[in-house]
Amino acid sequence: MKKITIAIDGHSSCGKSTMAKDLAREIGYIYIDSGAMYRCCTLFCMQRGLIRPDGSIDVESLQRLMPEIQVSFRLNASTGRPDAYLNGVNVEERIRKMDVSAHVSPVAALPFVRAAMTAQQQEMGREGGIVMDGRDIGTAVFPDAELKVFVTASDEIRAQRRLDELRAKGEEADFESVLANLRERDRIDSTRAVAPLRQAEDALVLDNSHLTIPEQKQWLLERFKERTA
Ligand code: CDP
Repeated sequence: MKKITIAIDGHSSCGKSTMAKDLAREIGYIYIDSGAMYRCCTLFCMQRGLIRPDGSIDVESLQRLMPEIQVSFRLNASTGRPDAYLNGVNVEERIRKMDVSAHVSPVAALPFVRAAMTAQQQEMGREGGIVMDGRDIGTAVFPDAELKVFVTASDEIRAQRRLDELRAKGEEADFESVLANLRERDRIDSTRAVAPLRQAEDALVLDNSHLTIPEQKQWLLERFKERTA
């Protein structure tokens, strides 16, 4: 059977990654978390002192250093899921922390950062058989994807899910700051000049505010079966 391309986009912390990972595992496709790639670029900026105390980015230095940013994914045998590596170092846990979340959207809005990541993502999906989640996958990275889904949920539900996730990993966080961060990221992501977050015209919309993880997994699997029937 021909392997298709599946693009899952949507707002911050709406459960896209969980859906995308579950589907990829079930159907034997590659899963790529494009947000992890922007998080790796942001961590690189933090490590190299390219984010100033006022939060602004040293854009000139970042542009010069871009060729030094190598992002890759390797399967973690114990979780069965891919971990993100920045220049050969496993940063999967590090990039999920709130300090990275606080700076990622301005970094991801830089056109040269997007151009570099988009080129890598398109290369990863050249042969199909891929599930990629992010903000611009169905609009800019794979505009011809056979299955496009746009996921959303209410702000408060998304903030609560992210808070639970952070706390489960032992990170201290409070509801109000998680909510403020996701609203601010959605604002920056939706209003940037290059590849803003928006629903592709041919995307199926899923509001998963009141769906459980098994229910959303089932919904997505059915859509996949329809497209490949
Ligand atoms: O996990 P969460 O949904 O909160 O975010 P993520 O998927 O890890 O993405 C982190 C950030 O990367 C987003 O807020 C965007 O600023 C950026 N991003 C993007 O610009 N384009 C993508 N395709 C994926 C993420």
